[in-house]
Amino acid sequence: MASRFSFFFFPISAALLCLRALPSSAAEPARTSIPAIIVFGDSTVDTGNNNFVKTVLRSNFKPYGRDFIAGKPTGRFCNGRLATDFMAEALGLGEEVPAYLDPARSIQDFAKAVCFASAGTGMDNATAGVLNVIPLWREVEYFKQYRRRLRQLLGGDAARRTISEALYVVSIGTNDFLENYYLLVTGRFKQFTVSEFEDFLVGLAAEFLTEIYRLGARKVLFTGLSPMGCLPLERTINWIGIGECNDEYNAVAAEYNAKLEVMVNELRVSLPGLTLIINRVYNLLLEMIQNPAQHGFETADRGCCATGLLEMGYLCNEFNPHTCPDADKYVFWDAFHPTQKVNQIVADRFINHTLAEFLD
Ligand SMILES: *[C@@H]1O[C@H](CO)[C@@H](O)[C@H](O)[C@H]1NC(C)=O
Ligand SMILES: *[C@@H]1O[C@H](CO)[C@@H](O)[C@H](O)[C@H]1NC(C)=O
Repeated sequence: MASRFSFFFFPISAALLCLRALPSSAAEPARTSIPAIIVFGDSTVDTGNNNFVKTVLRSNFKPYGRDFIAGKPTGRFCNGRLATDFMAEALGLGEEVPAYLDPARSIQDFAKAVCFASAGTGMDNATAGVLNVIPLWREVEYFKQYRRRLRQLLGGDAARRTISEALYVVSIGTNDFLENYYLLVTGRFKQFTVSEFEDFLVGLAAEFLTEIYRLGARKVLFTGLSPMGCLPLERTINWIGIGECNDEYNAVAAEYNAKLEVMVNELRVSLPGLTLIINRVYNLLLEMIQNPAQHGFETADRGCCATGLLEMGYLCNEFNPHTCPDADKYVFWDAFHPTQKVNQIVADRFINHTLAEFLD
């Protein structure tokens, strides 16, 4: 017990050294000062909330989840775990982040890890409306309810500590472009130029971040956009060069990410005590897509499930004979979402390079 005891009382710098020395997030969980992980966003981090919402955007059936714990489909848009699940494990907060709307879970389960995310949602209310999923403002309402339930469970002081010391992970934005602006169904394309729409979204991101800060959040990881023009579905429907990445979409993602940096720098000044870091996934993912072999992948231009060209949700199902046998060889699981292997790399990079900034 002596070594375990001393682990808890390590000075932060020593604890950090231990953390850096860990071989990967699959190793013994690190003991850090982070008491909980709290997740907002879309399908990149939804661990099953859409199962409890009246939407067609679901993934709680096989082959989704075939590489998850016990091979269980959970509503994650993945063959296995999401980056936030790996982050939770590395922080010693459990193997998975439970979905807040799951009636089989209680506030005890959520005290260390909770997910409010909803596949198909965005920062723009109109995005959530397309497939009738949970708008971001309602994710915040659930968070307010969560704070009340946590106070009842832990008492005021402990709940306040959890809320202010927790790591908040936000991953959202792709759907605002691909399911809303560029799909033309909401009319946003008539109302805004794409540059104006980027500004509109960055403004909504700032409002959201200010709101969760007001509610007690102090350690926030906000995910930038990935090279969304290289998602297999976007290659398939790219009229300019079928099968190629959509360069316009990638340029928009990069431009939006640059605007996000400016906004975040401003918020850091105006919201004292806030550690707000952008999770810069664009280059990491583009590198994996352009040089898959260097990262141990074989295929990056289509997904593992079904033909890999356009299936996701109900079109990616167990009756399709084309699904690949080993998803670890693929960057993408379905036509829109990365594999568990990619999610683990994203989480490992966070643990190795970014987590330290949240521990001072
Ligand atoms: C989104 O909808 C909520 C609830 O109706 C509303 O409070 C909020 O102002 C809306 N946001 C925008 C930007 O329209
Ligand atoms: C994280 O660090 C471990 C140990 O140094 C290393 O094996 C792993 O490749 C790193 N992963 C990333 C994504 O940086």
